[in-house]
Amino acid sequence: MNETIQKATEQFAQLLEKQLARVDRMKAQKDFIDYSKLDTIIIGVCGGDGIGPAITRAAHKILEFLLEGEVKKGKVEFRVIDGLTIENRVKANKAIPDDVLEEIKACHVILKGPTTTPRAGDPWPNIESANVAMRKELDLFANVRPVKVPEKGIDWTFFRENTEGAYAVGSEGVHVNDDLAVDFTVTTQEGSERIARAAFDYAKKNGKTRVTAVTKANVIKTTDGKFLNICKEVAKEYPGIEFDDWYIDIMTAKLVDEKRRTGFQVVVLPNLYGDIITDEAAEFQGGVGTAGSSNLGKRYAMFEAIHGSAPRMVQEGRDKYADPCSIIRAAVMLLSHIGYAQEAKKLERALDICMYEEKKLVITGRDTGATGEEFADYVMETIQKL
Ligand code: IPM
Ligand code: MG
Repeated sequence: MNETIQKATEQFAQLLEKQLARVDRMKAQKDFIDYSKLDTIIIGVCGGDGIGPAITRAAHKILEFLLEGEVKKGKVEFRVIDGLTIENRVKANKAIPDDVLEEIKACHVILKGPTTTPRAGDPWPNIESANVAMRKELDLFANVRPVKVPEKGIDWTFFRENTEGAYAVGSEGVHVNDDLAVDFTVTTQEGSERIARAAFDYAKKNGKTRVTAVTKANVIKTTDGKFLNICKEVAKEYPGIEFDDWYIDIMTAKLVDEKRRTGFQVVVLPNLYGDIITDEAAEFQGGVGTAGSSNLGKRYAMFEAIHGSAPRMVQEGRDKYADPCSIIRAAVMLLSHIGYAQEAKKLERALDICMYEEKKLVITGRDTGATGEEFADYVMETIQKL
């Protein structure tokens, strides 16, 4: 074997070892944490980069307001975690600096603002995305992204696999030589089973009658083929729920087909397809700025805005006018996930009133509109009137 191939093969062997170790860790995991059994639920608040701190502050304020009694009783504790910034990550040359990761791991759930993802050509070293790293470190395998447009009959919940697929070793591809670069996509039995089950369990609990798997198994036969087969197997355990499967290309088209798209309910799909299609789906609802996203694992959960950190808004001094709605939607999901269903409903209702019905304040992203803080106050006043 020539030396180039030998080196690439060694790198590949290391990847396989790491992935097999991950499989062992997945297998050893216990069941989902039961928040009602905890003395204190610790909520970590990470502002992130760019407009992140401003919008996260708005959502944090609302959460403190809704959970005031719980905090007084000691049932809930908030911890602000400041260090998840691009400057700190560059300094540590790590996607998440060790001390920040330790603080995060001492919490149960995290509310997270957007973090800047370096890419080639940026002034930063091309380190791994903090988002992707956190999902892997905390094993947040289910990225749940709901999209609703009631007047158009759209009510979708996407279950995007969040730790595998094209993302599993996305920063560890093999640069074989100047002529050849290879990335990998990873599918595991355990990883596919748990996301499929999460999607079906959700459907069952929420009265949904159909789960749709989306892959490209006709071409990406080994990994997507495995994912699809596992979804089919898991579907057999849920006889009351209809199962079908689509390929990602036609699914992307069908989401704009007004007659077909209202039939989709719960959609389960590998990481990269889920990343792409949830941005498309959020667009029907008013854009990525309106959608919240939860990242669920068995021990940890993280709730975030699905948009980016908008550094330009900060450069232009407009961060205080950034729209906090996406992260407030994430806060709704956080409340409901840790067992505060009433508070989640109230917040969701107030947000709908403020965003779509009453619209006493409008966010424009500049000084022609309200600040995020003013909007948070408006949401809280609206809650008080419910
Ligand atoms: C998302 C984002 C992230 C992803 C980026 C910021 C790494 O697009 O949460 O969908 O690709 O998962
Ligand atoms: Mg995305």
